[in-house]
Amino acid sequence: MEETRYDQRLHLLGLLALSYLLLKQLWILLVGIKNHVLSRWWRTDLKKYGGWAVVTGATDGIGKAYALQLAKRGFDVVLISRNEEKLQRVAQEIEKQSQQKTKIIQVDFTGGSEIYPKVENGLKDLDIGILVNNVGMSYVSDPVRFLEVDDVPKQIDYTLNCNILSMVHMTRIVLPKMLQRKKGLIINISSSTGIRPYPIMTMYGATKAFMDFFSRSLHMEYKSDGITVQVTV
Ligand SMILES: NC(=O)c1ccc[n+]([C@@H]2O[C@H](COP(=O)([O-])OP(=O)(O)OC[C@H]3O[C@@H](n4cnc5c(N)ncnc54)[C@H](OP(=O)(O)O)[C@@H]3O)[C@@H](O)[C@H]2O)c1
Repeated sequence: MEETRYDQRLHLLGLLALSYLLLKQLWILLVGIKNHVLSRWWRTDLKKYGGWAVVTGATDGIGKAYALQLAKRGFDVVLISRNEEKLQRVAQEIEKQSQQKTKIIQVDFTGGSEIYPKVENGLKDLDIGILVNNVGMSYVSDPVRFLEVDDVPKQIDYTLNCNILSMVHMTRIVLPKMLQRKKGLIINISSSTGIRPYPIMTMYGATKAFMDFFSRSLHMEYKSDGITVQVTV
């Protein structure tokens, strides 16, 4: 059967769509290779950002790993968490391991805006190059529907304060000096629960989606001023 002009256009369209999808997958693959393989040798010079790094939720898990790694790469580190003893312990571990300076700020991020003057005061004389907004909490051990969360009114405040308010206020505190120096890196730890709606962990997932949108918008606003904002899922 003879191919009509309509068929030819349809084939061309299909070919273009297929090429687009293939190029997109190739791009994802290349970025993955750069980030997860080549990055072992091809490292960004983080030290260009400044002398101090600040990590929230720095005494366990991902936050502690960031704090140790940043110290290893030559940063003095401000550790911020709830538990004073754990803060002291991690600070000692860093100083022993890397000879970098540390500073600790004990604060409970489930609190509202009243907790930030203490943080602001603790950071005011430091040349902060990197901020890692890592602190975050989920409100349940077993996923449940929104109204089945224990003590819903309290958990609304705690979850939103810890996961959202902390990132926004910490950014507000460190950004002005980064802008003066025209360099700074802000890393926000989101989660895959923020990529698409996540029922039975609704509030947690929604706070992580907020982190994602906030980070990507903020990056667009300030990248021309030398500020990089990254969000990890
Ligand atoms: N683990 C995962 O599989 C996973 C996956 C995706 C995203 N994430 C995200 O990654 C981040 C870190 O998770 P993680 O699993 O590494 O956490 P983690 O091991 O439970 O550590 C939490 C850290 O945050 C501190 N912290 C917790 N609540 C706090 C509060 N109200 N005020 C001040 N500090 C507080 C803890 O210190 P204290 O001991 O003083 O409480 C601790 O240092 C979170 O934002 C989480 O949502 C985790």
